[in-house]
Amino acid sequence: MLSKYFRPALLEKIAAKAGTPVYVYSQELFLRQVRAYKRAFRGLDPLFCYAMKANSSAGLCGLAAREGFGADVVSGGELYRAVRAGFKPGKIIFSGVGKTPEELEYALKTGVLFVNAESFEEVQELERVARCLKLRAPMSLRINPDVDPHTHKYITTGKLGSKFGVSFAEAEKIYLYAAASRWLQPAAAQFHIGSQVHSARPYALAARRLAAFMARLAAAGVRLEYADVGGGWGVKEGSEMADPALLARAIDGVFAGTGLKLILEPGRSVAAPSGVLLARVIYRKRGGRKNFVIVDAAMNDLIRPALYGAKHPVALIGKGRGPEKTYDIVGPVCESGDFLAEGARLREPAPGQLLAVYSAGAYGFSMSSQYNSRPRAAEALITGPSSWRLIRRRETYKDLVAPEL
Ligand code: LLP
Repeated sequence: MLSKYFRPALLEKIAAKAGTPVYVYSQELFLRQVRAYKRAFRGLDPLFCYAMKANSSAGLCGLAAREGFGADVVSGGELYRAVRAGFKPGKIIFSGVGKTPEELEYALKTGVLFVNAESFEEVQELERVARCLKLRAPMSLRINPDVDPHTHKYITTGKLGSKFGVSFAEAEKIYLYAAASRWLQPAAAQFHIGSQVHSARPYALAARRLAAFMARLAAAGVRLEYADVGGGWGVKEGSEMADPALLARAIDGVFAGTGLKLILEPGRSVAAPSGVLLARVIYRKRGGRKNFVIVDAAMNDLIRPALYGAKHPVALIGKGRGPEKTYDIVGPVCESGDFLAEGARLREPAPGQLLAVYSAGAYGFSMSSQYNSRPRAAEALITGPSSWRLIRRRETYKDLVAPEL
């Protein structure tokens, strides 16, 4: 269980000092996931490019960078954060379906490993920017392998009809175009089938399709250096990630002997287990047949339950009163979709009591907003059995209006 990394006495201390809502991350748990990947893929020696969108906090990214990870970024902003957090430019890949000319220029000037393009028009724009800068742009194509990863439809990305990537047939034409250009350097081929994928089977299928495609391409004279199988490895809420050795085994046979270097882009699996969102109970009430616990964290802090129906385990810090009952844990935001958990089984909490929402380390803070003019939460990092530090201060009312003119 994850709770052993988040001891109640320490959580109480952090909440008393940093206030609530606060995201609390365990350095030990984050590093455990990072090292589990490294161990599982020892034989293949891939480059891991941590998907920063999962959690782009410098406090966590710096840990991944020091472990030798690179980064997968999807915007100029993430690239800026990646370099600042200590990722080596030569280990950063720039993905995303709609990179602007300014972002392409920023990536090339920074010296990223490659730009992962998603359309012919983007490749032509990359070529134009590279010509202006008088340098050769290392590029990859995101290919849609038409594989069903059996996950939520909002995070299914590798099936035909998705906005992501290009087909194998189109990719072949684009690589031939790129290989003939003075300003483009075809370096990699990539897929990302989706997120929260719990089986290695769709990876094996997509990887086989990618490897066959890359062999055809090599026969046509375009030899790529990297095969990138994206991210998406699932994590059951409330647990550590599924054993990445399963993933390694599914991919191992496919690329063995090809001479290709492997890249993975894990995000959630590294970050999700490592974080909890701490909130304080404000009120209790009954409405219809339901018991509500109203806490000071809301959908603006953690939108996953509202957006994907995600079920994050919640637990009281300290004891509740009486027998367990069924509660909806809701926030102060003026929407009925504002809940952190529905039908949670808890003993009755007291006003002022702390409540922890587990598996909130990925796509928690990074998707948070100031909706309802709620300043964004603070973030803290547990660094030892009884040590911690603040890695982001809570926003203030002034921060809410600072950019307004
Ligand atoms: N690489 C690419 C190109 C991606 O688009 C993504 C995630 C990843 C890697 C990392 O996937 P991960 O290992 O984290 O599953 N907000 C959603 C998840 C969106 C994922 C988008 N792409 C959620 O909260 O479930």
